Amino acid sequence: MRLTHLALTNFRNFTRLDMDVPAGAVLLVGENAQGKTSLLEAVYFLATMVSFHASSERQVVNFLEARQPLAVARISAEFSRGPQNHQLELRLIQEANGLNGEAHLRKEVLLDGVKRKSSEAVGQFNAVLFLPQMLSVIDGAPEERRRYLNLSLAQVISHYPATLAEYNRSLTQRNALLKQLAERQGDPAQLDYWDASLASSGAQLMVARIAAVQDLERLAARTHSELTRGKEVLRLVYQPAYEPLPQKPGQLAMPLNAPVDRSSLTVETIRKGLLEALIRLRSEEIARGVTTIGPHRDEMRFLSNQVDLGTYGSRGQVRTAMLALKLAEVGWMHKKTGHWPVLLLDEVLAELDIPRRQDLLQRLSQSEQALLTTTDLDLFTPDFIARTQLWQVAGGRVSPS
Ligand SMILES: Nc1ncnc2c1ncn2[C@@H]1O[C@H](COP(=O)(O)OP(=O)(O)OP(=O)(O)O)[C@@H](O)[C@H]1O
Ligand SMILES: [Mg+2]
Repeated sequence: MRLTHLALTNFRNFTRLDMDVPAGAVLLVGENAQGKTSLLEAVYFLATMVSFHASSERQVVNFLEARQPLAVARISAEFSRGPQNHQLELRLIQEANGLNGEAHLRKEVLLDGVKRKSSEAVGQFNAVLFLPQMLSVIDGAPEERRRYLNLSLAQVISHYPATLAEYNRSLTQRNALLKQLAERQGDPAQLDYWDASLASSGAQLMVARIAAVQDLERLAARTHSELTRGKEVLRLVYQPAYEPLPQKPGQLAMPLNAPVDRSSLTVETIRKGLLEALIRLRSEEIARGVTTIGPHRDEMRFLSNQVDLGTYGSRGQVRTAMLALKLAEVGWMHKKTGHWPVLLLDEVLAELDIPRRQDLLQRLSQSEQALLTTTDLDLFTPDFIARTQLWQVAGGRVSPS
């Protein structure tokens, strides 16, 4: 997979950008606040159709443009996927008709000139993103891990984005109904439809997550063992909020220290079990006014030598595990799609010690295309710089240097 051309209009501080993108490693060099991260953000949008800044998607529209009544930011790209060339355009349109008159961002997607739903466009172009703040996937809140899983899976499993959207819709409706039943009573049978819908989409999400965590663990553990010179064993543990495996009476969750294999469970088995559990919990959930089980409450833990890195990991241990996970994601995407994803690395080198830095640079040189950002060229070996295209980023402009 390779990006060949990128054009931006009113995307953050890029009022206008139009550039061909070379293959191999491209090093974006620039001082602070010049647009390096924004450029990677734009490219990542093409893979996932969302920003990697979870909360602030509306803020991508250039702020001068955003004062206009119908402001539009545009990301347009050409890319090659094996022998095929494609064109992908994402328009982010700021509309003033959101809740409480707040601006609302509408997305329009064109793939090869044809309008598509954004859930259909996700994963046409694949990218893996490395950000220093991504350590929070390991040591932050559970949402971060679910978001990580969702963004990676959406790129690789074609039904995932639509299934996730359906799940979230059903969840919102079900929660609203639960609250309504708690406050004003009514017939609980109104929940039947949403229970069925939630169980059906939820089971598909869970099966995808079970397989992905298992694949990622296998790949990440191998890299992690190399990075720690065999001293540490990394494990990824999926902890579904609804446990589909039979449990002993009184047992609250599967033990962390023994591997649990859920790979033989089918969508149908999980759907049935999840539906039964929702019905069993019905009166409790009406009283609480929320849905308490299902993929929106799933957890994933990272263990090194049986120690939970989220709680007890040192900074260095968390960094190493994250690097192993990201490299695993690259190999996993290749395995699942048949193409190497484009790598986007924002200032990550600065975070790593010298052996890890060299290791990462060496692995990078195997990829078809990688975009790296830095404020400091000295982090890179002369040998690496010689094999890299250097681009200067200044004030929302990019020029070869
Ligand atoms: N919607 C927007 N419109 C215009 N400018 C914006 C918008 N959003 C962010 N900016 C500005 O764009 C500039 C570039 O930000 P960016 O994060 O890409 O910089 P950077 O080169 O990665 O810097 P650093 O080295 O500090 O990470 C910043 O000055 C930021 O304030
Ligand atoms: Mg930056």
